[in-house]
Amino acid sequence: MQTPSLDNVTVLGAGVLGGQIAWQSAFKGKNVVMYDLHEEGLAHCRTAQLRYADIYMQDLGATEAMIEQARARLEFTTDMAASVAAADLVIEAVPEVPDVKTAVYRELAAYLPDHTLVATNSSTLLPSQFAEATGRPEKYCTLHFANLIWALNVGEIMAHPTTAEATLQAVTRFTIEIGMVPIPVQKEQNGYVLNTLLVPMANAAQTLVTNGVSTPDYIDRTYMIMNRGCTMGPCGIMDVVGMTTLYNIFSHWGEDKKDEQMLKNARYIKENFIDHGKLGVHTGEGYYTYPHPSYQAEGFLDVPDLTEVDHIARIALGA
Ligand SMILES: NC(=O)c1ccc[n+]([C@@H]2O[C@H](COP(=O)([O-])OP(=O)(O)OC[C@H]3O[C@@H](n4cnc5c(N)ncnc54)[C@H](O)[C@@H]3O)[C@@H](O)[C@H]2O)c1
Repeated sequence: MQTPSLDNVTVLGAGVLGGQIAWQSAFKGKNVVMYDLHEEGLAHCRTAQLRYADIYMQDLGATEAMIEQARARLEFTTDMAASVAAADLVIEAVPEVPDVKTAVYRELAAYLPDHTLVATNSSTLLPSQFAEATGRPEKYCTLHFANLIWALNVGEIMAHPTTAEATLQAVTRFTIEIGMVPIPVQKEQNGYVLNTLLVPMANAAQTLVTNGVSTPDYIDRTYMIMNRGCTMGPCGIMDVVGMTTLYNIFSHWGEDKKDEQMLKNARYIKENFIDHGKLGVHTGEGYYTYPHPSYQAEGFLDVPDLTEVDHIARIALGA
């Protein structure tokens, strides 16, 4: 039997990632309903999608007509029951807080049509943590996307012990149809492949900043020189991920692993960014200011001019 195409998609949570998943899916021809608990979340999402439209035209060669067609395939609602009434696939992208996700799945279970598959976009949590709450464990798995979905196009697919093979086949087909390279994860592991690499790197960079050992521009300069050709370093990546999600990840795993440094890093992010409305690229400011962060400036990786000597020596003195 041919694997069915999942054409009607509902995305729960219209934040950084939910908005990107919805936009990319609509751009690739899926009918998408974007659900959020808050009208404000939907409003932010619409604004973000205006930016995505520009990026798709400038970087991906999308035409006005393609953008209009994508827009026409998108709906927005705060009514969960209505949002999933016709869904073949629901992708959950609500905050990285286990209790919030569990509550959303329990509410969702009452509204889902029988055939609907459910996937979590969680960055670090396991599908087996939530499988029972969905009321349909065999139709549930992880489908994890990366931020800047149009350029960093991976879709990590991870089962839990009772996910059905048919679910994985349909989700894999969907992943390919929306232009992602599927990354099958062979067993459950928090963080999958991508965040097993990314979270320790972000935590290490944040530790250097929190403890006053280095500054974002020098951390990113080091990384970008060591990985010539890459477009940003760890602090730039943190801005892309967004301070809210980083805070949630550092708080959750800091508590879980009794990691004092990680908890200190979470506090630093809250006090220096979140409390000031600086949530990263999404709000125009985080470690850098956007749309022209200094790490993109010409000469960022160049050997400095000799006029910089005193300034650099003062930094090395800890002044
Ligand atoms: N930001 C990233 O780089 C990234 C990358 C991959 C995966 N993820 C994962 O995607 C999920 C969402 O992360 P994000 O960065 O988009 O978060 P975000 O904070 O940008 O957005 C979360 C959205 O969920 C909404 N929301 C809150 N409670 C809700 C509820 N009960 N029901 C419905 N909507 C609710 C909020 O209004 C907000 O619009 C998390 O699991 C995160 O780990 C994030």
